Amino acid sequence: MLHPKLKALANKIRDKKLREKIIELLENPTFEIGGKKYTGLPLEISPAGLSHHHSYQGGYLEHVASSADIALALCNSMEKIYGGKVNRDLVMAGVLLHDIFKPLTYVKYENGSLGKTRLADYMDHLSIIISELVRRDFPLEIIHVVSAHHGEYGPIRPRTVEALICHLADLIDSRLNAEILNAARYLARRAVGEELFGLTSKEALEIISSKSVEGWEGVAKAVEKIRRKRKTHKA
Ligand SMILES: [Fe+2]
Ligand SMILES: [Fe+2]
Repeated sequence: MLHPKLKALANKIRDKKLREKIIELLENPTFEIGGKKYTGLPLEISPAGLSHHHSYQGGYLEHVASSADIALALCNSMEKIYGGKVNRDLVMAGVLLHDIFKPLTYVKYENGSLGKTRLADYMDHLSIIISELVRRDFPLEIIHVVSAHHGEYGPIRPRTVEALICHLADLIDSRLNAEILNAARYLARRAVGEELFGLTSKEALEIISSKSVEGWEGVAKAVEKIRRKRKTHKA
């Protein structure tokens, strides 16, 4: 069953054929190579990174949802302020597809920690999605949007307005999330003297706001509260 958030985003795509093609892939994000079928973590629980950004359970969904919002805001600017024309279907397709195979490169060990799969030793998420999009006969314009989403660090820079918007939305959201996690890790380390692993965005924001409200004492309290919650969750 496709997560309702992903379904709602996919439903924004007006072109019926494209929408159906994307939903089909979202519902079954597996990859076959050399006669072997690879299935990764489910999209609903996967992180969207292992250390830098969205590196916690559910991070993938948050990253896609937030990138979609940012991308739509950029579409509005582009059209309403700069007077340009944007194909929103292409943008939404790019946002939904760009990291769809990241979860395929992650594995969850029995102790709950995350690592990289064997497939990830040989292929990165960008190469996997591009091969799959070609195999499934997706339009070239979408292949470009996805292929350019890493901007200057990827195989090709954005050459269309839609690819630029998708790249910027991805970049802004990863940066936004990474900065929040980093700040909270730093505050927790300074307040209690040790690292708090696997912080979610919500926990990180709790820590950051506790600093503004009650200073270092507030941070120590927030860290304690998070630890207690985690323990009761485990029990
Ligand atoms: Fe990516
Ligand atoms: Fe991304």
